[in-house]
Parts: sequence; C-alpha cells; structure tokens
Amino acid sequence: MPDDANNVGTLFGGQMISWMDLAAAKVAYRFLKGTGVNGALTRAIDKVEFKEPVYPGEWVNFEGHVSKAGTSSFQVIIDAYAEGSQKKKRLACTAIITMVAIKKEDNGTYSKCPHGRTL
Ligand SMILES: CC(C)(COP(=O)(O)OP(=O)(O)OC[C@H]1O[C@@H](n2cnc3c(N)ncnc32)[C@H](O)[C@@H]1OP(=O)(O)O)[C@@H](O)C(=O)NCCC(=O)NCCS
Repeated sequence: MPDDANNVGTLFGGQMISWMDLAAAKVAYRFLKGTGVNGALTRAIDKVEFKEPVYPGEWVNFEGHVSKAGTSSFQVIIDAYAEGSQKKKRLACTAIITMVAIKKEDNGTYSKCPHGRTL
C-alpha cells in the first residue's frame, strides 16, 4: 500500500521488519502451544537481509520455522516472499529472530521462563 513505501517507491524496510516480527510471533505461538507459558517476546533480531525490493501492489507472504531451541529462548527463521501479477515469487527478505518465552506474574510483571520444547 502507498503508506508502506520508502522514498524510492519500494517497500520501506522498517515496515518489512515489523511484519517479519509479527510472523515470528505467530511461529512462537504455535511452538509454545500447550507448554503453559504466557507468550514470547522478541529478544534479538540477529540478522535481516533485504535481498530484493518489493514493488507497490505486490503481496508479501511469510514462511517461518523454529531453527534452534534453548532453555527459554528459541530461534525463528522468517523468509518473506514477494508475489506480483507479472513476476515470479521472489525471496525478498530473510531474518533470524530470537524469541524468549515468558511467564506473567500476578503483579503485572513478567520474566523469562523455560519452555520445555525441543526440536
Ligand atoms: C525477554 C526478557 C524477559 C529476557 O529476560 P533476560 O533477563 O534479559 O534474559 P537473558 O538475558 O537471560 O536471555 C534469555 C535467553 O535469551 C538468550 N539471549 C539473550 N540475548 C540474546 C541475543 N542478543 N541474541 C540471542 N539470544 C539471546 C539467552 O541466551 C537466553 O537463552 P536461554 O534461556 O535459551 O539459555 C527481557 O530481556 C526483556 O523483557 N526484553 C525486552 C523484550 C521486548 O520488549 N521486546 C520487544 C517487544 S516484543
């Protein structure tokens, strides 16, 4: 959409990172389902690579998976594919995102929490 563009008319990188972070949150939701933790937060965006521009009017599709599991942390890989009516689907951006599982306390605070998941 026009509001998502940078000053050369392609997708603004900050918007792409925001969508990738949201995609990672969905991967985290599925990974942690049934563990009893209250959710996960982004601890680090370790690497983002903008491989190809995304043009106005194209769709962006996200694919993600957990690539490593630690004690409270887990690493999520997100690939963003651009899809236009004329061009073939292209890998536009990749990111490596570290999420940390959290437990909320009764007083409203939260802290990291072992998630118990393995790959
Ligand atoms: C997430 C949070 C609760 C973690 O608590 P913490 O006391 O900082 O925890 P730690 O530093 O011990 O790190 C927790 C885990 O992340 C890992 N980690 C820490 N820094 C990291 C980094 N830069 N890159 C990758 N992994 C990292 C640690 O190795 C640890 O992994 P493990 O439990 O699997 O061994 C806290 O850092 C926080 O609230 N951060 C802000 C989160 C936020 O606001 N995100 C943006 C909105 S979603």
